[in-house]
Amino acid sequence: MSRTTPPPHRRRRRPAMLAGALVGAAAITAATLGLASAEDPAPLQRVENPYEGADVYVNPDWSANAEASGGSAIADQPTGVWLDSIGAITGGSAGNSTGLAEHLDRAVEQAGGEPFVFQMVTYNLPGRDCSALASNGELGPEEIDRYKTEFIDPIAEIVGEYATANPNLRIVNIVEIDSLPNLITNTGSAETATPECNEMLANGNYQEGVSYNVGTLGEYENVYNYIDAGHWGWLGWDTNFQPAADLFNEVIGTAPASPDKVAGIAVNVANYGSLEEPHFSVDETIGGTQVRESEWIDWNQYTNNTDFGLDFAAAVDGGHGLIIDTSRNGWGGPDRPSGPGPETSVDEYVNGGRIDQRIHTGNWCNQAGAGLGERPQASPASGIHAYAWIKPPGESDGSSEEIPNDEGKGFDRMCDPTYEGNPLNQNHMSGALGGAPISGHWFEAQFQELMANAYPPL
Ligand code: BGC
Repeated sequence: MSRTTPPPHRRRRRPAMLAGALVGAAAITAATLGLASAEDPAPLQRVENPYEGADVYVNPDWSANAEASGGSAIADQPTGVWLDSIGAITGGSAGNSTGLAEHLDRAVEQAGGEPFVFQMVTYNLPGRDCSALASNGELGPEEIDRYKTEFIDPIAEIVGEYATANPNLRIVNIVEIDSLPNLITNTGSAETATPECNEMLANGNYQEGVSYNVGTLGEYENVYNYIDAGHWGWLGWDTNFQPAADLFNEVIGTAPASPDKVAGIAVNVANYGSLEEPHFSVDETIGGTQVRESEWIDWNQYTNNTDFGLDFAAAVDGGHGLIIDTSRNGWGGPDRPSGPGPETSVDEYVNGGRIDQRIHTGNWCNQAGAGLGERPQASPASGIHAYAWIKPPGESDGSSEEIPNDEGKGFDRMCDPTYEGNPLNQNHMSGALGGAPISGHWFEAQFQELMANAYPPL
C-alpha cells in the first residue's frame, strides 16, 4: 500500500477558530452531552483518572474472535487497540484490518455521549523490540523521521479531530511497550545487552520517539499518556529502578513531552506477572535465608506488579497514574497455591506459594498455564487507575517456529517450547506453548487455556 506523507502535525488542542466559545452554559451542556458541535465546543479538561465513571471501548474485532472461540463470557470486555504499524492507522496491516478512525467512530457510538475511554497502544518505534525478535517492526533504527511524520503525525491528526469534537471521549495512549526499559537493562556491557539495543541507546531514537509521541498526542487534553514501564521482574531491582526512573524523567522533561502531558505509567503490558504474591514477602527469612535470595526473586526488591507499579508511578514525573495489564496474569486452575510453600528451604517456600507459575520471571512468550486475570475495572485499589486488558487475550506473542511474514516479525526462540533459554531468562526453558502463530495473530489454543485457567474464574 502506498501513502503520501502528510505535513508535520501542527494543530493545537484549541484551534483559534473555536477559542471564542469556550465558556458559557451552552458549552457546558455540550460537554455534558458529549456533543460534537463546531459552534459550541466545550472546554477540554483532564480528569485525574480517565477510567473513573467511564465505560471503555469494546473492540468488535476482538469480540468476534473471542465469541467464535467459545468466549462469550468475556467477549464484551474492553481490550486495547494496537497501532503497531503505519498500515494499522488506516487498517491496512495484516494484523489490524480496522483503521483508527473507524474504531473511533464506533467508540463515539458506544459512548452515547457519556464519558468514555478508548484504549490504544502506539507501538512502532524505529528499531522496535531491540532485545527480542518476535515483535521487530517495520522501521529501521534510524527512521525516526518516518516515525514522526508517517506514524505519530497521522495518528495525532485523527485523534485530534475526534478528541476535539467529543470532549467526553478520553483517549488512553499506552506508549511504546518495552522501549525505555530495554535501554536500561539490555545495553552497555550487561550480559543481556544486544547490539540492537546499544544502537538505539546511542542514536537516541527511542527517547526522541517517546518524547515526540507523548508531546504530540498530549496536545489534546482528553488524551491520557501512560508510558510503558515493563514489569516488576524487569525494573524491580534497585540497580534498574532508579536509572529507569531517571531515564523516564529525562524523556518526559524533553520537549515536546512535558510532565503535564503524562497521566502515568502502564506495567505488565503483554506480560504475565501477578498483581500480588500473598504467600511470601521479600522481608521474610526461611531457615536463615532471606526470601529475597530465592532463585525466583533473585535479590529483587519486589515480588509483584502492584507494589512495583505504584512505586515506579510515584517516581516518574507527571500524573503518577498506574494501569496494570491483567489480561493474562490470572494463574488460576489446579496449580494455583492456596497457601505458602513448605519451610524446608527458601526456594521450596517461594516456589510452593507463588501465584505466578512461570519457570522464570524473564519468560514472556505465550506462557503455558497462564489464565485470564482480573476483569478490566476502574480504580481497583488506591493509586491504580485501572486494571485493563491491553494485550487482547488470544493474540500470540510470537511464533513458536519461523514463519515468513510481511510484518517485519522475526522468530524469537523464547517462543519455542524446546528452547533452553539465554541470559535474559538465566538459561531456563522458555515455558512457551507450541503451535503459535506470529505475534498479534489469533492463537486459539492459548485462548482456550487462558479461559480455563482464568482467575478470578469465569
Ligand atoms: C505484536 C503486535 C500486536 C500486539 C497485540 C504484539 O506483540 O507485535 O503486532 O498488535 O502484540 O496482540
